[in-house]
Amino acid sequence: MALGLLWLGLALLGALQTQAQDSTPNPIPAPPLLRVPLQSDFQNEKFQGKWYVLGLAGNGFNKEKDSQLKMYTATYVLNEDNSYNVTSTVVWDQSCDHWTKIFIPNLHLGQFNLSNIERYTGTQNYTTRVVTTNYNQFAILYFKKVFNNQEHIKVTLYGRNKDLPSVLKEIFISFAKSLGLTEDHIIFPIPIDECMDK
Ligand SMILES: *[C@@H]1O[C@H](CO)[C@@H](O)[C@H](O)[C@H]1NC(C)=O
Ligand SMILES: *[C@@H]1O[C@H](CO)[C@@H](O)[C@H](O)[C@H]1NC(C)=O
Ligand SMILES: *[C@@H]1O[C@H](CO)[C@@H](O)[C@H](O)[C@H]1NC(C)=O
Repeated sequence: MALGLLWLGLALLGALQTQAQDSTPNPIPAPPLLRVPLQSDFQNEKFQGKWYVLGLAGNGFNKEKDSQLKMYTATYVLNEDNSYNVTSTVVWDQSCDHWTKIFIPNLHLGQFNLSNIERYTGTQNYTTRVVTTNYNQFAILYFKKVFNNQEHIKVTLYGRNKDLPSVLKEIFISFAKSLGLTEDHIIFPIPIDECMDK
């Protein structure tokens, strides 16, 4: 593994440990966005393309209940105004379902919110942050959504391929836990082939 990647992981964990020390014991509330790491000097062109969703963590996930969740993809296409069209492709009832959300840049490079939020009934706020990425192998994203006055947090592990070295999975798990999530909130969707190349 490239030294650069290892360094990235260690730097990220260092930042997280510093945060964990002063975090409150209550696991549910979302941390202030400022405390969530942000990929520095985010390169939006390099981030484009297809990502496999290899890990999911969040206060809306349950390891047992969601144990049959299948892998899906998220494809990022940049628009001229620097927003992204983000198309998710999932297997649903033997066919491939696609839907597209638009992420608009919000305050920082690598931070976005959802365009046309009024179309998503019940969703009051939706922000995502690219926590870390090396563009050609993996990314970790943080999502915060306010839905019917309740905060939902989600962390995703993206890979350019369907598998990633275990050190990256460990970094993802550590990050999720630094937000107060537990093993029960972390799932690794089942690898599949259907729809993954569409
Ligand atoms: C993104 O989606 C919008 C709305 O569906 C569409 O008009 C636009 O052409 C898309 N952009 C790209 C780069 O495909
Ligand atoms: C999303 O970000 C844009 C640009 O910073 C801002 O104008 C808009 O109010 C934000 N929307 C929400 C729901 O936060
Ligand atoms: C949504 O976000 C905006 C700014 O980002 C904030 O002012 C507002 O209080 C948030 N609303 C909710 C319901 O969290």
